[in-house]
Order: sequence, then structure tokens, then C-alpha cells
Amino acid sequence: MRKRYLAPLVLSALFFAACGGEKKQDQKASDSTHESPAADNSMVSPNAGKPVSKGENLMAQSDCKTCHKEEMKVVGPALKDIAAKYPNTPENVDKLADKVIKGGSGNWGDVAMLPHSNVSKEDAKEMVSYILSLSGK
Ligand code: HEC
Repeated sequence: MRKRYLAPLVLSALFFAACGGEKKQDQKASDSTHESPAADNSMVSPNAGKPVSKGENLMAQSDCKTCHKEEMKVVGPALKDIAAKYPNTPENVDKLADKVIKGGSGNWGDVAMLPHSNVSKEDAKEMVSYILSLSGK
């Protein structure tokens, strides 16, 4: 009963979307969407497996992974080595966030990290917090 009623409704909604129809006539459609919440759920729980921290996401979106891997040294030190070197304190997070933004060398060798002047201090801190959180694993 319900399904037979829904099908033409959904079809017409698709039809309108495809034509770029500006008439928002899905008021009725949204009444029945609560019966299929799949689309909403995917927004709420995007990490079915292991939780992904904000910092990890930010790093994935930036260029960090070009030079840093979690387990092994590439151009820059392994994230785990960084975590092992610096205790996860607010001071270290702050200091290393500045380093991420300004770049530089000297703590691990002569190779310099490129500056990331487009990264905000807040985001840099999220990333560093994530890196330093890897030490316990
Ligand atoms: C061009 C390669 C490169 C990229 C890209 C890069 N790094 Fe680095 N990173 C390095 C190198 C090389 C070092 C070691 C610097 C040193 O010896 O002081 C380093 C060191 C670090 C350190 C430790 C700093 C210290 O003083 O001990 C952190 C934290 C870090 N990187 C985070 C990041 C984050 C976060 C990103 C992405 C926004 C990033 N890196 C992108 C090359 C890179």
C-alpha cells in the first residue's frame, strides 16, 4: 500500500531534480523519508571501523603523508617516532604546531619540513595532537 504510493512520488522527485526544476515540491516526500534513513545514517557514523580523529583527517587532506608515514621514516620522521620523542603535553603540541606552520629542520637532521602557512594554528594543533597520540600504540 505505502510502497505503491511512494514509487510515483520518488520518480517525480527524480524527474524534477533531473530537470533542475526549481519547484520544491518534495514537502510530501520528506514526510515519508523517515522510513528509509540510510542516507542520514551515513553522515552520523562515517567510520564504521576504527575511529578517525579530526587531526588524522586534516593530515589526509594536507600534504603530510607525502613525507610522513605512521610506521616508517620517509622524508620526514615516522609519526610514531615523533610521538615517542615528545610527550603529549599542551606545550609540545603548541611548539610542534608552530613548527608545522613555519617548517624547518634540525631536530631530526638536515632535511627541512616545508612550511604550511595555509594551515591554521588550530588545525595544526589537531594534527600534532593526533601524531602525539600514536605513542601509546
Ligand atoms: C616536504 C616533506 C614534509 C611534509 C610535506 C611535511 N613534513 Fe613534517 N617533517 C618533515 C621533515 C624533514 C621533518 C624533520 C624536521 C627536523 O629535522 O626538524 C618533519 C618534522 C615534523 C614534525 C616534528 C617536528 C620537530 O621539530 O620534531 C611534525 C610534528 C611534523 N613534521 C608534522 C607534519 C604535518 C602535520 C604535516 C602536514 C601538514 C607535515 N609534517 C608535512 C618533512 C615534511
